[in-house]
Amino acid sequence: MADEGIEKLIRPELVNFGGYAASKSPETLKDKVEVPLEGIIKLDANENPYGCSPGVNRALADYRDISIYPDSGQTELRKQLQGYTGVPVEHIVAAAGSDQLIDLILRLFITPGDEVINCIPTFAMFHFFIELNRGTPVAVRRDKDFNVNVTAVKKAITERTKLILLATPNNPTGTITPREDILEILDTGLPVVIDEAYFEFTGETVAPLVDKYKNLMVLRTFSKWAGLAGLRIGYGMFPAKIADYLMRIKEPYCVNVAALVAVRETLEDIDALMKRVKTIIDERERLYSSLQEIDWLKPYPSKANFILCSVLKGSAKKLQQNLEDRGILVRHFDQPLLRDSIRISIGRAEENDILLETLNELEEGLDG
Ligand SMILES: Cc1ncc(COP(=O)(O)O)c(C=O)c1O
Repeated sequence: MADEGIEKLIRPELVNFGGYAASKSPETLKDKVEVPLEGIIKLDANENPYGCSPGVNRALADYRDISIYPDSGQTELRKQLQGYTGVPVEHIVAAAGSDQLIDLILRLFITPGDEVINCIPTFAMFHFFIELNRGTPVAVRRDKDFNVNVTAVKKAITERTKLILLATPNNPTGTITPREDILEILDTGLPVVIDEAYFEFTGETVAPLVDKYKNLMVLRTFSKWAGLAGLRIGYGMFPAKIADYLMRIKEPYCVNVAALVAVRETLEDIDALMKRVKTIIDERERLYSSLQEIDWLKPYPSKANFILCSVLKGSAKKLQQNLEDRGILVRHFDQPLLRDSIRISIGRAEENDILLETLNELEEGLDG
């Protein structure tokens, strides 16, 4: 069949689907930046600057059963997650990153045209998966400090509303949604997804309520606090009935054997990993204070492992490019409510120092 005819066969709403602007892998920047690849400071995807537990690397080097499919029932993994979260196994489902769980939840609930409330600005994958699953995104703007406007959320509910998605702490703003606001949203009775990807940086959670609220779904990940982003492992806690449906519709082997090994080792090394989390939090506060001293940046307080800043002079895109040329990767945003903004993931102390020095040097050339 001629290639040009393929659009006629593709789902019409996907012909112009924009996709997701993913973070840049350092290897794609070879010879394009002023530093060698090993010198790149990657502060653009909220990864863990300390990497994973050394026990993960050791156990993976010794692992012998790569030729065998993983346990599709996630039996051991779910038990380990029960141990970590205190939520019983029948409420837990794991997948290839919490991204995959967002997708699975939308697949489970959405028929074409169903509305999904999304509190913007927020994690762009929410919009991506709503559209991919033929839902209709209903954007409810956060206020000027990026707090969720619960009244506006309730007002946005129609008879077609199927789901409400909410990240706390929110990416890219770092904002927390207070428990009483979450409870008020849960009281609407609609299925609510609370994405707690950055939970370990706050300690605030509604996960224990999945037994009480039949409409609450809580998502977590090992990508951020545990340094396992590359292995793609996330999990969710659900009312048992929803967990059961998700177990039925997930790909059987969606969590690979390397991720299973990595979770086991991670949970054995929790004290050391949580010390690193504490260091990242301390660095976040130090970086926040230093960024406040730069008069052309406005950092927002954050409860996660990144800081959002408005760029008050010149353009955020240009700033991002200037930093990239010098081997420092950050994320830039230019969309309603996030005009001229950059998001900086918290690095190691020495990386944050280089970032601050570079920002001070760059001030000269920031004329738009
Ligand atoms: C709010 C939020 N949810 C989910 C994810 C995705 O996590 P995972 O790597 O587990 O797919 C991210 C990653 O940036 C995020 O910020």
